[in-house]
This record gives sequence, C-alpha cells and structure tokens, in this order.
Amino acid sequence: MNILILGSGGREHTFAWKIKQSPLCSNLFIAPGNAGTSSCGSNININPTDFEKVKALALSEKIEMIVVGPEAPLVEGIFDFFQNDPEVKHIQVVGPSKEGAKLEGSKAFAKEFMAEQNIPTAAYQEFTSNTLEEGLNYISTQTPPIVLKADGLAAGKGVLICPTIEEAQMELKEMLSGKFGSASAKVVIEEFLDGIEFSVFVLTDGKDYKVLPVAKDYKRIGEGDTGLNTGGMGAVSPPPFVDEILMQKVNDRIIKPTIKGIQERGFEYEGFVFIGLIRVDNEPYVIEYNCRMGDPETEVVLPRMKNDLVELFLGIRNGNLNKIEIIKDERAATTVMLVSGGYPEKYEKGKAMSGFEKASDSILFHAGTKQDGENIVTNGGRVLALTSFGNNFQEALKISKNNAELIDFEGKYYRKDIGFDL
Ligand code: AMP
Ligand code: GLY
Repeated sequence: MNILILGSGGREHTFAWKIKQSPLCSNLFIAPGNAGTSSCGSNININPTDFEKVKALALSEKIEMIVVGPEAPLVEGIFDFFQNDPEVKHIQVVGPSKEGAKLEGSKAFAKEFMAEQNIPTAAYQEFTSNTLEEGLNYISTQTPPIVLKADGLAAGKGVLICPTIEEAQMELKEMLSGKFGSASAKVVIEEFLDGIEFSVFVLTDGKDYKVLPVAKDYKRIGEGDTGLNTGGMGAVSPPPFVDEILMQKVNDRIIKPTIKGIQERGFEYEGFVFIGLIRVDNEPYVIEYNCRMGDPETEVVLPRMKNDLVELFLGIRNGNLNKIEIIKDERAATTVMLVSGGYPEKYEKGKAMSGFEKASDSILFHAGTKQDGENIVTNGGRVLALTSFGNNFQEALKISKNNAELIDFEGKYYRKDIGFDL
C-alpha cells in the first residue's frame, strides 16, 4: 500500500525509516519531510495543515494510510476531514479525531477528563479574564513554585513555573491579556509536582490498546537540566527507574482509565496517546497528554520495536490490535540531538553539514535538515538525532557522543549528559 507521513522532524524521519522496512509498504511519501526522509521515500512540499492539498496528494498518489506526526493537523481535525469526505473516507488516518485531540489541544479539557476518571494528576483550577480576581486570590493561597499553563497550543512555550506568588500573579495577568494569544485566554493553575519525568506511549483504536517501550526525554537546553525548555535534546529508552511495579500502577491508574474515558466520551481515537508522567514518592501522576508520538522519544521508541509498524496501524482499522504482541529489543537505546547555535532562541539556518560518512554504529535521524544541491544544510533548531544501542544507556550514549563529534556544522551544540539523572 502507499503511505503518506505528515511532518518534517526527527520523529517523522524515524517513522519513515521504520515504515520503509515493512513489506506492506509499496510507495512512501513524506510531506514536507527533510533531507533524511528523502532517502526513505518521496518528499512532497506541502503543509500538513493544508487539508485540501493533503487530500489532492492522497488521491493522486493512491494513498491508503496517512500517519500524522505533529499535533497541529490533528488538533485542527484532519481525521474528521478525511472521515467526512466520501472521496477520501477509505483512507486510514492514524490519529485521533478533533475531539480526541483536545486531550492535547486544551489543558483544561484534559484536566476535566482526568478528574472524571480519577486519574492521578496535580490539583488545579482554571481561570479566564472574567475570573482574574479569583485567580489572583487563588494564587495567594498556594505554596510556590506555582505552575501556570496556557489552555491552548502555544508551541511548547505555554507552561510557566513561577518561583514566587508575585511572579505568578503578574504572569497570570499577562497570560489572560494575550501573552500567548488566544491560547492563554484560559489559564490552568496547578500544584507543582516534584519528581522525575517519563513518557509512556499507547497505540489505541479507542477500545483496545498496546503499550510501546517507555522513554525519558531531556527538554532543557543546558546540561544538568538547566536553561530554557526546548523541543527535546535527547532521550533514553527504557529509563531504568521505571520498573514493573511502577508500570503496573501506570497501567491500572492511568492507561486503563484513559482508554475507558475515551470510550465513555465516545471519542474516535485511532492513534497514539502520549502520556507525560512524573514519579513522586514512587507514585505516577499525569503531567500532560499529547495526541501524537514524542520527539525525540520516537527516535528511541521505534528502533526498540521489532514489530511491523504498518501491521500495527492496520490492526487499528481491522479491530485486531489485541492479537498483536509488541516485541521489544531488550537493549537500551539513547538518542542525542545536535542543535543549531542559539537554539531555542534565535539561530541561523543554512549551515553546511559534513562528516555523515564518518559516523558509524548510530542511526542518524534528520530533523531540521535540507538538501541544497550536493550538500545537506541545517534548516531548523533541532538538526539531527543520533540513536545508538547498548547493553545499557551509558554504552549507547558513548556511541552517540562519538558520532556527535564527527558530524559537523557551524554552531553545533549538543548535551553530553543525556541520562545524567538515571
Ligand atoms: P507541558 O507543556 O505540559 O509538557 O509542560 C512542560 C514541562 O513543565 C513538563 O515537562 C514539566 O517539566 C513541567 N511541568 C508541567 N506541569 C508541571 C507540574 N504540575 N509540576 C511540575 N512540573 C510541571
Ligand atoms: N519530547 C516531548 C514532546 O514531543 O512533546
């Protein structure tokens, strides 16, 4: 079958690399893709949120399955767009409906959903400009740090952790008066949870589900988890602290009730649920839901899966997801992200890259790269993810770091301490 992947990052290159290995895949297209995805299939330069163009491509290339990488097309309703159009209804879109994607698209919605199912998460209240005074009062009763979240999508920047009551009050005023545009017209204020984070990925048809390998990502730009938040600087799978006892709790208290909630609410959900978790005193709590795979977690999760990913996706539509076992590579995988100098603030693009041929024993997943004539040049903040295997994550990290030294471009930066807290 012909398959289309939407997106252009390291996550999408990993999907492309994995899907290309499936005997079920004939022709693979990636829109818009990057310099790495073009070695797995054909890049097509269209925007994943331009649904009419995606439809035209799907028809002209006889696409039968669309794998959606980023959240934006899902939150904007690409699943429903295809479902409601007789011309393209037969095409499987891997992802949730617009309603289901609200688990990521609205923090207030996700909190309400969790409360309904008694899913452990930080205590919270939500406020709008009409209830600003109540919000300021609520903050004054809280113990800092205080967590403020813009309700809507804010390009990963909508969460503020304020060290004092005064700062939280000032930020609440700014957020409600449009700091993140309409995304912060509503703000969730929640209790700060102190612990270690990890990511659990579930593939579901809305009823049955499969739990994929667990991962942990490193979001801060600086070593020792310092500095600004980024899209993700590296990841480890599995994080050694996530043992069977903790996973049993995650299953019973979080995954099962999440799927039950999806069913009870009647969401059409035929894709990934990414559950961002934090372990506090050995108990798991939900920090957030996403309606897609994580990036760079995908770069360690998919390489650890021995399954045919296309078969798993088909299982969603055919109702036989339950018959498929997830087969894991027992080795550890680590990925290290090379980023552009200045990222996550201002950075330059178009820097010539070299040294690809010197790197060995790692899988190179391209993120912000572009073909420029004979050369590959940088084309984003996060540039290249280097994934390696080892008997433990330290062994894997050593290989990724060796290769990180061999690949070069002006301004290159990466964290050498991925897994430092494990
Ligand atoms: P999010 O955009 O919801 O993933 O939040 C970004 C980051 O903020 C998370 O990965 C956490 O590190 C942090 N965070 C969010 N909510 C909380 C919370 N209630 N307590 C502590 N840290 C949090
Ligand atoms: N790595 C976190 C995310 O994809 O949201």
